[in-house]
Amino acid sequence: MMSLNKKFTALQIAEVAGKARGAFVSLTLDDLSAGEVVIQTHYSSVNYKDALAATGTGKVMRRLPCVGGIDVAGVVAHSDNARFKIGDEVLVTGYDLGVAHDGGYAEYVRVPAAWVVPLPTGLSLFEAMALGTAGFTAALAIHRLEQNELRPDSGKVIITGATGGVASLAIQMLAQRGFHVVALTGKDCEHDYLRGLGAAEIVSRQQLVMGSRALEKSLWAGALDSVGGETLAWLTRTMQQDGCIASFGNAGGIELHTTVLPFILRGVKLLGVDSAATLMPLRLQIWQRLSSDLYPKQLEKIVEQVHFADLPQVFPKMLAGKQRGRVVVAIQAVR
Ligand SMILES: NC(=O)c1ccc[n+]([C@@H]2O[C@H](COP(=O)([O-])OP(=O)(O)OC[C@H]3O[C@@H](n4cnc5c(N)ncnc54)[C@H](OP(=O)(O)O)[C@@H]3O)[C@@H](O)[C@H]2O)c1
Repeated sequence: MMSLNKKFTALQIAEVAGKARGAFVSLTLDDLSAGEVVIQTHYSSVNYKDALAATGTGKVMRRLPCVGGIDVAGVVAHSDNARFKIGDEVLVTGYDLGVAHDGGYAEYVRVPAAWVVPLPTGLSLFEAMALGTAGFTAALAIHRLEQNELRPDSGKVIITGATGGVASLAIQMLAQRGFHVVALTGKDCEHDYLRGLGAAEIVSRQQLVMGSRALEKSLWAGALDSVGGETLAWLTRTMQQDGCIASFGNAGGIELHTTVLPFILRGVKLLGVDSAATLMPLRLQIWQRLSSDLYPKQLEKIVEQVHFADLPQVFPKMLAGKQRGRVVVAIQAVR
């Protein structure tokens, strides 16, 4: 058993003047949430939810203080569970990690064994976090759409918030599988980036005319939505017969104002995607797919690595919608 007194760095979110705020602190293992498995963190990542949590922007945190970071990949440093032994490479995403259980923005993380996923064969710890919750969500959304009969010959698939982490990964995964991918983005300077990932068409958010009829011209066989709000409402109105939408994001709002007409006159399906609560059998299946048929072949093109000390600078950029692709955090001591 490693020493309980050894000090290490963590980005802890605590209440400051009535608002949740992230700050570097020095902790010992004894300070961390309980669990059977201690992981020495190699990498974590930055998801939209992490940015909301660390800046106190959304009511994401369910416990304070709490170490942030909803993703972690590293090596088992201690295990009280027979399924894991010291030195095993593992990852954890979601569950309560980083919102109600001390998370991945720390040199050590202690979690229940039931949350731990063995690193899939063929993935490195870095790649596991380049994918992270974002990649898992993209793959889960695609898995759900395919379960609902979406095929490359069904028609066009649109991805909103296209330069974001989940969307940048989903574009690659779908393009590789032969889908005609349409990217909806607010960043007119990133059209080449999106084409490079495999988008066949780009729609500019600034030039998009959404209309207001209950049913607009039918355009999409499938949709993956990072944005919510008016964008998701527009998607419901523009899906083709039996079209299928995977709703996972709220970067543009949480409300949804639409009518039942897309559902009862076009058979549109609205599928909710919740990565954090995915049960372990499906979770393992999705990670298996991420390391094989859904592995995005241009992963390195969309990933930026930041030092732990520079992590706080990423959050406001992400909330302002100015970040592109994925950010992996190399976790080491911050002095
Ligand atoms: N349900 C789940 O399990 C799950 C899992 C992961 C993520 N999510 C959610 O999915 C969304 C995307 O996550 P992410 O990690 O990919 O975040 P991200 O990297 O910040 O991507 C979000 C993208 O949405 C677009 N966007 C931002 N603000 C917008 C606005 N006000 N109106 C319209 N578009 C806007 C931007 O893309 P463009 O500039 O290209 O338009 C931005 O890059 C977030 O809402 C996140 O909370 C949910």
